[in-house]
Amino acid sequence: MTNIAVIGGGQIGEALVSGLVAANTNPLNIRVTNRNEERGKELHKRYGIVNLTDNAQAVDEADVVFLCVKPKGILDVISEITATLDNNSAQSVIVSMAAGISIGAMEENASAGLPVVRVMPNTPMLVRKGMSTVTPGRHVSKEQLEQVKELLGTVGHVVEVAESDLDAVTAMSGSSPAYLFLVTEALIDAGVNLGLSRATAKELAVAAFEGAATMMQETGTEPAVLRAGVSSPAGTTVAAIRELEESGLRGAFYRAAQKCAERSAELGKQ
Ligand SMILES: NC(=O)c1ccc[n+]([C@@H]2O[C@H](COP(=O)([O-])OP(=O)(O)OC[C@H]3O[C@@H](n4cnc5c(N)ncnc54)[C@H](OP(=O)(O)O)[C@@H]3O)[C@@H](O)[C@H]2O)c1
Repeated sequence: MTNIAVIGGGQIGEALVSGLVAANTNPLNIRVTNRNEERGKELHKRYGIVNLTDNAQAVDEADVVFLCVKPKGILDVISEITATLDNNSAQSVIVSMAAGISIGAMEENASAGLPVVRVMPNTPMLVRKGMSTVTPGRHVSKEQLEQVKELLGTVGHVVEVAESDLDAVTAMSGSSPAYLFLVTEALIDAGVNLGLSRATAKELAVAAFEGAATMMQETGTEPAVLRAGVSSPAGTTVAAIRELEESGLRGAFYRAAQKCAERSAELGKQ
């Protein structure tokens, strides 16, 4: 059985743990660390994981170590655990979920030769619908990369990308659940404006988006073709689409993705 350590049980750490446990990983093989003891107890109660506060202890004999702390804490955590990883009987792999921290910077802070994988996850991991990209560092073997992909695959889709694509990936999948939450919020308000109760508007909007996302995923059909399929000539949908286009929706997404990628690049330089 693979021994897993999750350093930092925040949003992404919990999403990962919840998916792994739902996919039948034995929670006794998952050690989760938190600085805050109450948070650790809460995660233990919810998932049955091994709750620790000592990062070095958590990575002792761990096969895969997921770093789920904020980007500014990543290099310090690597320095804290690298000696223990060196003494493990099998070669451990570090998997960083942090935005902006390069593989080179992580490899420099770890002992020579330590395998590092950089991942860009997203929060739908919590419901096993995550989108994670993986980028292996130079010391990662094919088997180790497969193992990491397999673990992440229990909580959603996994795609391998080049490190140079990661700012764009952050704009596309890391941050984009928030864009969709915003669009959903706006549609609910619009429904309330039309006289629906907030609860009904929410139920209709969320189900419509879930259905549309499932259609795109399961049919593989281009979104433009699916949209044309619900746009009858001179009909209701095309009237709404014209308003959205004239309000600059498409341009707003171009600009938002650009800003997101720029911010990701900026954070990486800090
Ligand atoms: N959230 C997203 O949608 C998203 C998307 C893509 C990538 N990411 C990446 O995922 C990583 C985690 O993000 P998040 O949103 O999950 O952040 P978060 O909710 O703040 O979680 C980080 C957790 O790590 C704990 N922590 C901090 N330092 C620690 C240490 N030295 N040892 C053990 N635990 C420690 C924090 O606890 P304290 O309360 O003690 O600080 C907190 O519970 C980030 O690097 C981020 O770039 C997040």
